[in-house]
Amino acid sequence: MTHLGRIAARLTTVNSPKEGYRYVPPMRLNAWLARAGVASRRKADELIKDGRVTVNGEPGQLNTFVQRTDDVRLDGKPLVKQELAYVLLHKPAGVVTTASDPQGRETVVDLIDLPTRVVPVGRLDADTTGALLLTNDGDLAHQLAHPKYEVDKVYVVQLWKQPTDGTLRKLAEGVNLEDGKTSPAEVRRLAGSTIELTIHEGRNRQVKRMFEAVGYRVKALHRAQYAHLTLKGLEPGQWRELEPSEVERLRATTKPPRAPARR
Ligand code: URA
Repeated sequence: MTHLGRIAARLTTVNSPKEGYRYVPPMRLNAWLARAGVASRRKADELIKDGRVTVNGEPGQLNTFVQRTDDVRLDGKPLVKQELAYVLLHKPAGVVTTASDPQGRETVVDLIDLPTRVVPVGRLDADTTGALLLTNDGDLAHQLAHPKYEVDKVYVVQLWKQPTDGTLRKLAEGVNLEDGKTSPAEVRRLAGSTIELTIHEGRNRQVKRMFEAVGYRVKALHRAQYAHLTLKGLEPGQWRELEPSEVERLRATTKPPRAPARR
């Protein structure tokens, strides 16, 4: 096959009325399996290595790319790739942020009633409430979780005692944690011991550890906003799918800043 022929063979066009004509790039087999809700990419690699996945009747390889029309099977059973889904959940307290809990506790995924399997982007502690994004778009999830893209997260923190203005200044400048100094944050006192903290990092238990580092314990923690997404209209436990424009805005958040035009 010629070089151009090979490229043409890898291009697929979609002409469903919903999607219009557009180029759909082939997808690596592990990503395709993750999108089909079969397993994470890492586990999908194991399924492929174990020879349990076939593409058009041939054993799939780690470097196999899948096109829209390909017949992909696991243990002989045909699989269907799922549509991308993006969900905003108002996480209630007492629910764990994981796709499956070995201890059998209720998970955020259990709250989402969609045919498509979505998984949380980042995590909130079991006792933390608020905005949590879930998706099966692994690429976007990976990018949003990367500190380089500086996705803002706005937390409302209730403390057991009222912090001093000096303490709030320290938090804003960054405090030393065992995994390094925190980046500058925006800090605002909403009421005596209720503080709004905006950070773009997403380290484990970061907010609680930041307050502990300056001598305060957190009584209650709520994430009021994730990127541009607020909880307007969502009661605890409720969720909604994002509008396409909201997904686009999230994608734009993860685009590297444009280099200044050369003269
Ligand atoms: N920081 C925390 O300490 N806990 C959370 O759940 C989220 C951020």
